[in-house]
Amino acid sequence: MCGIVGYVGHRDCSDVLVSALTRLEYRGYDSAGIAVFENDKINVAKSKGKLKDLVEKMKIEGKPDGFAGIGHTRWATHGEPSDINSHPHSGAKVTLVHNGIIENYKELKEFLENQGREFLSDTDTEVVAQLLDYYYSHINDPIRSIIETTQELKGSFALGIVFEDFPNKVFAVRRESPLIIGVGEDENFIASDVPAIIQYTKNYYLLEHDEIAVLSKNEGVRVFDSHYQIVSKELKTADWDVDAVGKCGYPHYMIKEINEQPTAIKNTVLPRIKDGMPCLDECNINPEVLRNIRNIYIVACGSAMHSGMVGKYVIEDIARTAVTVDIASEFRYRNPIIGKGDLIIIVSQSGETADSLAAMRLAKEKGAKTLAIVNAMGSTIAREADMLIYTHAGPEISVASTKAYMVQLSVMYLFAFELAFAKGQIDEEKYKYYTSKLLETPEMVEKVIAQTTEISQKISTKLLTADSLLYIGRGLDYALSMEGSLKLKEISYIHSESYAAGELKHGTISLITKDMPVIAVATQSALYEKTVSNIKEVKARGAKVIMICQEGNDVPKDIADYVLKIPNFEEILLPMLVCVPLQLIAYYTSVQKGNDVDQPRNLAKSVTVE
Ligand code: F6R
Repeated sequence: MCGIVGYVGHRDCSDVLVSALTRLEYRGYDSAGIAVFENDKINVAKSKGKLKDLVEKMKIEGKPDGFAGIGHTRWATHGEPSDINSHPHSGAKVTLVHNGIIENYKELKEFLENQGREFLSDTDTEVVAQLLDYYYSHINDPIRSIIETTQELKGSFALGIVFEDFPNKVFAVRRESPLIIGVGEDENFIASDVPAIIQYTKNYYLLEHDEIAVLSKNEGVRVFDSHYQIVSKELKTADWDVDAVGKCGYPHYMIKEINEQPTAIKNTVLPRIKDGMPCLDECNINPEVLRNIRNIYIVACGSAMHSGMVGKYVIEDIARTAVTVDIASEFRYRNPIIGKGDLIIIVSQSGETADSLAAMRLAKEKGAKTLAIVNAMGSTIAREADMLIYTHAGPEISVASTKAYMVQLSVMYLFAFELAFAKGQIDEEKYKYYTSKLLETPEMVEKVIAQTTEISQKISTKLLTADSLLYIGRGLDYALSMEGSLKLKEISYIHSESYAAGELKHGTISLITKDMPVIAVATQSALYEKTVSNIKEVKARGAKVIMICQEGNDVPKDIADYVLKIPNFEEILLPMLVCVPLQLIAYYTSVQKGNDVDQPRNLAKSVTVE
């Protein structure tokens, strides 16, 4: 979603802002803009489209020239993508950029119009700019007027602000939407996320709700709470470097991130193993806590929710504990039956997804315990959960999740094994055996990437002309194929559905026509024959079948057009291997269609609004 940056220092501010915004492109956007102090005047440049369109425009119309300013990439919510609706927005003395949604903007706009103020855009952001300007014109104190303004706002916001009367100072405030303050040598930054500023500094502060930061070159950073009291902040340091946010020679972030999966698994799993067994004590999870869990709900969105689907099958199978998987946007509004004794697991790469956060807060309110599985350090979900397991995928830049999903799976296994042992459902030997197999997955994933790249590429050429396709599977294969289907549709724009293979006969099989591709995942021995029967049914109706199974499986003649074989491995862990060719098929299909692989249309990386 929208990206915010801000800078004060000694460098060319426009260049820093554009470069920092480039590192936030992954979040998705449809327009961009900057505001820079030129001496005492705030100079704004903004444009619909991509950052390159803004840069082109600045070449023609002139680039704002100065050392302090704010910048923004906008993902349209209120008002279409256009030059006018792009941020920054201004009042008489105030210019700002905004990430989030102001729910009461209509009432506020009406109030301001009654005060004689006029609006140029359709955005809720311009209402904030005018409201802040209104308070500033009465109070004349920037911080106090920010406090007054934010007290009036309902919804979520991260704001980067410049006041014409305070040249070379940048102000920032946030509620719900993320914002960090980067701290450099004689230069300071604001940003929606660390990757934006990592090329300049690794040190940053996390801004808490309603805290206000004031940045300047010489006086550094000062942070105030909503009572205008100075707050002292803990300086954090990002533990990855600039390579983590570059493509490092890969043509796209997505393929780089697919290749980073073995390392991501190692980084996530290894620190949690003690004496050959998972140990989640540092996450506040211990056998006592686990034994007392009644029901488990895994609540998340998109790929994160799909990792929960795999988790459900694994946890129910080996820990014999009931698991419900819920889409966060449904869970939060359906008055779920949860309470004391229940555990809600919230899974999120960004840790900022609005629906997942709201679901977690609701679960807390109802007395359930919350466990967050989160990738982004210090994110809101991570900070508010009762228990927390960080996944260590590093920054995921491609909008389509790959390595973050993979490490979410690895944590599902760690958790399931520990729960099963704590509940006495598996003995120590089995516990250690499963753990040893999980420790082998990085090597296996690496092998699968090497073995399946070429065939995935070939298969993708066969999908290019398809209007629609089906993914089918049973059990764990079905849970996994949900992710395969999402991956394909989000980046190739080909419609696809994932279906439980046994459910086809109850309606969906009528969709099968000649040459319709069906990707059939059949890796689980206990269900193999059943899935093979379902494959025969679609083949008999003309489908072009791509079958994924284990090496050594007896594949009946003529049931599949392509067979993609995965090395034999512990079956419960096979989703971690099989997701690789599903990711690769989606990737190569998108590449061959000439799509924007890393930034698919209409999508944003971090969905911080409902
Ligand atoms: C798809 C994808 C999304 C996210 C979803 C949740 O590739 O990345 O479906 O999984 O938007 O985002 P997080 O994990 O940040 O809560």
